[in-house]
Amino acid sequence: MNEYKIALIPGDGVGIEVIDAAWLVLEVASQRFGFKLASERFDWSCEYYLKNGRMMPEDGIKTLRQFDSILLGAVGWPAQVPDSISLHGLLLPIRKAFDLYVNARPHKILKGTTGPLKAENFDILCIRENTEGEYSGAGGRVHVGTPDEVAVETSIFTRRGVERILRYGFEQAQKRSGRLASVTKSNAQKHSMVFWDEVTDEVAVDYPDVEVKRYHIDAIAARFVMQPETLDVVVASNLFGDILTDLGAAIQGGLGFAASANVNPAGGVPSMFEPVHGSAPGYRGRASPIHWRPSGRGP
Ligand code: IPM
Ligand code: MG
Repeated sequence: MNEYKIALIPGDGVGIEVIDAAWLVLEVASQRFGFKLASERFDWSCEYYLKNGRMMPEDGIKTLRQFDSILLGAVGWPAQVPDSISLHGLLLPIRKAFDLYVNARPHKILKGTTGPLKAENFDILCIRENTEGEYSGAGGRVHVGTPDEVAVETSIFTRRGVERILRYGFEQAQKRSGRLASVTKSNAQKHSMVFWDEVTDEVAVDYPDVEVKRYHIDAIAARFVMQPETLDVVVASNLFGDILTDLGAAIQGGLGFAASANVNPAGGVPSMFEPVHGSAPGYRGRASPIHWRPSGRGP
C-alpha cells in the first residue's frame, strides 16, 4: 500500500480549523481508496513570526522538500504582521521554490449548494500562472516618503513561463471539452499581453483538437457571470487568474467552497494544496464545516 507523507501548515486564522476538517476527509479517503497517510504539522504562521522574526525556519524549504505534498490552511494576520511580510515569507516562497507554476482552481457548484447565480451547470477550470507575471516581485521604491516618491512593480513574462502554462491549459482542455479560453488585456498592455497572445497562437499549432478563444480580462469577468456555460478551461496570468478565481469562488457560493492546487507537473517536488480563501480573521472559530452552527456561533 502506498504511503504519502503530507506536510501540514495550518498557518493563521481559519486555516487551522479547515486543516483539521480536511484531514478527517483525507483519512476517510485513504481508507476508501487504499493508501496510507503520514503527516507532520508545522506551526509556521504569523504567531511563529512574532516569536522568531521569520515566517518559517531558514531551512523550511529544505524540510518541505522531503514530503510528497503540502496541505496549507491560510496565511496572514494583518492586525499584527503586514501581509507583505507574511505572504512573502511563507506562501509565495513555497510556490516559487518548488516552481509550482500551475495554480489549478476548479470552480463548480458543489452538491447541495446553489450559489448566487443559481447557475446549475457552472463548471470552469481556471489555470493560473503561479510564479511570474505581475507577482514576480521585481521592482522597488525610491525617494520614499517624499513628494517625489516613485514605486515600480514590473511584470515579468518569460517565453518559458508563458509557454508552459499555456501548454498545461491546452492539455486540460484536451481532457475536458476541447475548449480553451486564453485571458489577456492585449488591447491595453501592448508588450506582455501581445506576447502572451503570440505564444498562444504558436502553442495552439500543437493542439489542433483544441479550440482556443482569446478574451480580455474585463470581458471574461462579465462572461463568468452572464454566460458561464460558454467557458470551460480558462488560462490566465498570475494577477488575472487571482482575480478570476475569487470571482469563480463567489459564483460557487463563497470563497470557502473553492480549492486550489499549486503544482509542478514535472514532479520531483511536493505540490501544495490549499483553499482559495485567506485566514479570514472575522470568521475564526466558525469556518470548519464540522464545527459550524446554524446560529453562526462557534463550537
Ligand atoms: C490566492 C491569494 C494569494 C495570491 C495572496 C494571498 C498572495 O490571493 O491564493 O489567490 O494572490 O496568490
Ligand atoms: Mg487570490
